[in-house]
Amino acid sequence: MRQLRWGLFASSFAVLAFAGAASAETIKVGVIATFSGPNAIWGKQFREAIQVYAAEHGTEVNGNTVEFIYKDVGGPNPDASKAAAQELLIREGVKYLAGFDFTPNAMAVAPLINQAKVPAVIFNAATSAINEQSEYFLRTSFTLWQVTVPIAQWAADNGAKKVITAVTDYNPGVDAESAFVSAFEEKGGTIVDKIRMPLQTTDFAPFMQRIKNSGADAVFAFLPAGPATFAFTKAYNENGLKEAGITFYGTGETDETTIDALGDQAIGLTTAYHYSGVHDSDLNRSFTAKLEEMFPQSRANLASVGAYDGVHLIYKMIEAAGTDGEKAIESSKGLSWESPRGLISIDPDSRHVIQNVYIRRVERAENGSLVNREFDTVENVPDLGFSR
Ligand code: PHB
Repeated sequence: MRQLRWGLFASSFAVLAFAGAASAETIKVGVIATFSGPNAIWGKQFREAIQVYAAEHGTEVNGNTVEFIYKDVGGPNPDASKAAAQELLIREGVKYLAGFDFTPNAMAVAPLINQAKVPAVIFNAATSAINEQSEYFLRTSFTLWQVTVPIAQWAADNGAKKVITAVTDYNPGVDAESAFVSAFEEKGGTIVDKIRMPLQTTDFAPFMQRIKNSGADAVFAFLPAGPATFAFTKAYNENGLKEAGITFYGTGETDETTIDALGDQAIGLTTAYHYSGVHDSDLNRSFTAKLEEMFPQSRANLASVGAYDGVHLIYKMIEAAGTDGEKAIESSKGLSWESPRGLISIDPDSRHVIQNVYIRRVERAENGSLVNREFDTVENVPDLGFSR
């Protein structure tokens, strides 16, 4: 008996000693995003969602403490992103990178993560080609191909015949244009014109005139969520395009963080997207309630859900592989879980999230807020732009 007790004591001591060694480790995660300037909403939404996840699930994984270190790159700025990644990897010794709101910021770190063998979880940047730049990229957001093909098909099935596209002239805009044109033409539709708008544009009135004069019965738009989408959608509303019979189709143009400022004119705008703040599930209700409890002025949007699921993925990789980047990537392939947006999984080939895409219309909810109400679902859509 005594011997048995001693045996038990010895083996639990060994377990404790092992756990003790592991618990000494702090695993740092570097978050590269925009925390200043006109697009600072991205960093704010990422950080809040990370804090919600940590409040719900703690900051310890397998006895390791997970610490997030934030770096501001001030907007779409690949040089700043590269410098931030260098500092995080070399000076801070981070074992995971995360964040990345704008495509050029993600693209810029590909050679660094390849060299360091450090996984980088993209919370937003949505150009398909990013994940082809490095085996160490994972993405928990969406791609333009993934959400645009469903809206093109829906538009064609619901009476659109002649469409003009209007996109921001950089990688995700080009993806959105290509995806819309190919899916819409495949359904027999006609593209009457294609507009590409500079990234820094804030005056959309001239583009509205061109859309009006084009003879199109609908416009498909893509702009990066934030001030640009708000200004474009406002210009669509204020320049009488709806009255001229030109239907609006888009993806993230009715973002939750700016939707109320669009006012009644936004009601009825139709978009396809992977997340709505009013997605009808218990998990989404608890997620948005926790976010609003911790940050009373906040509203959950695509950035929030991308970051929340991104942290989940990082925790799962730490659980499976600690700080071994190669093993972490392998362990992520095929993982599936329930997100506030619905059931999702990591495609083993593209390392991008497979998810439902919802068709939504702007409505005024009972509490007076404008919301994106989902009314149709295209299930389990992969990144349709991967390896194209
Ligand atoms: C991107 O740069 O990939 C990007 C930025 C904002 C969006 C979507 C995509 O809303």
